[in-house]
Amino acid sequence: MNKLKDCIVNKNTSNTPVWFMRQAGRYLPEFQKIRKENPDFIKLCLNSDLVKEITIQPLDRFDLDAAIIFSDILIIPYGLGQKVEFKKGFGPELGKLDIQQILNVSDNDFISKVEPVYEGISKVKKKIKNKDLIGFVGAPWTLLLYMVNRKSPKKNFNFNDISKDESLVNKLLNKLENIICLHIKKQIEAGANVIQIFDSWAGLLPGKELRKYCFMPTFKIVEYVKSLKVPVICFPRGIAKKYTDFIEIVKPDCISIDYELDPNWIKTKFKRIPIQGGLDPKTLLGDRTKVKKEVEKYLDIFSGHPYVFNLGHGVLPETKPDIIKYIVDLVRQKK
Ligand code: CP3
Repeated sequence: MNKLKDCIVNKNTSNTPVWFMRQAGRYLPEFQKIRKENPDFIKLCLNSDLVKEITIQPLDRFDLDAAIIFSDILIIPYGLGQKVEFKKGFGPELGKLDIQQILNVSDNDFISKVEPVYEGISKVKKKIKNKDLIGFVGAPWTLLLYMVNRKSPKKNFNFNDISKDESLVNKLLNKLENIICLHIKKQIEAGANVIQIFDSWAGLLPGKELRKYCFMPTFKIVEYVKSLKVPVICFPRGIAKKYTDFIEIVKPDCISIDYELDPNWIKTKFKRIPIQGGLDPKTLLGDRTKVKKEVEKYLDIFSGHPYVFNLGHGVLPETKPDIIKYIVDLVRQKK
C-alpha cells in the first residue's frame, strides 16, 4: 500500500504515513561503516549497489512507509561539471563556477554523469514494491546559493554577494530549472513515485526577493512534476509567515513545515492541503517523555487533516536510532 501517496493524493486522514528527512545516513552505524570505506562521498552516491543498500537500511530497522533515495542535492552541480567535495567537519566544498561551461552541458552529458543515481532507484524499486519511493532535488535557489557561494552559507551570508552579477544569476537559474526537471523525470522513470523539493536556504532570502528566487522557479518545477502525474512535496525551510504566499503561489501537492512554524497557525490557514513534518529534530536528542509529548502534539493538531508524520528538518547525526523506532510506534498507535 502506498500510504504516502494515498495521504497526499486522496487526502486520506487516517493511517498517518511516517518517514524521516535524512533517514538514510549519518546517525546509523551501518551507514557510518560504509561511509568509512568510501571516503569520496560523490563516488558513494554514484555506486548504485551501495545506494540501494543505504536507502534500504532505515527500512530494515524501522516500520517506515517510504524510502528516500540515498543521494544528495549537490549531485546536480556535480553533473553540471562543478567540482563537489565533502570535507569532514566542514561540509560541502565546491570548485570554481564556470558559467559558460555549465551552460554548454547538454541533457545527455548530465545524464551520463549521474546515471548510477537512476540505476540505484531501479534497484531499490525492485526491493520495496509496496512502499513509496521518494526521489528528490534541491530547489533552484538553494542550488544556486551553493554553486555561487561554493560552501555552506551558515556563516557570513550576504545576499548581495550572491545576486550582484544579475546576468549570471538569471542564466544559472534558468539552466538549473531545466536540469532539475530533467533529473526529476529520470528519477520518476527509474521508479520514484513521489518527489520532494528541498529549499533548505529559502529562509535566507530577503522578503522582496522570495518571488524571483523561490516562488517562481519552484512553481515552474511543481507544474512540471504535476504534468508527470506524480505528487510533489515542497520544503521551503525558514520562510515563516511567507509559507502562506508559498502555498498560494506555488500550489504544491503537500507542504513540509519546518520546526519554527506554528503548526496550529498553518492548520487553520489551510484546511485542504496535506501537511508534512514539523517536529524539531533536536527534540529527538532529549528524553522519551518529552518526545512522546511532542509527537502527540503534532498528531493531535493534525488529527482529521491529511498529515504525513516527519520532522521539521533532517535527523541529526547525534540521534540514537532507537528513538526513531519509538516515534514510529507512537504514530502507529494513533487511533
Ligand atoms: O534523506 C535521506 O536520507 C537521503 C539522503 C540525503 C542526503 N542529503 C545524504 C547526505 C538527502 C535528502 C540530502 C539532501 C541535502 N543535501 C540537503 C537538503 C536537506 C537539508 O538537510 O537541508 C542539503 C542542504 C544537502 C547538502 C549537504 N550534503 C550538506 C550541507 C552536507 C554536509 C552536512 C550534512 O548535512 O551531513 C551533505 C552531506 C550528506 N548528504 C551526508 C549525507 C548522508 C553526510 C555525508 C558524510 O558522511 O560526510
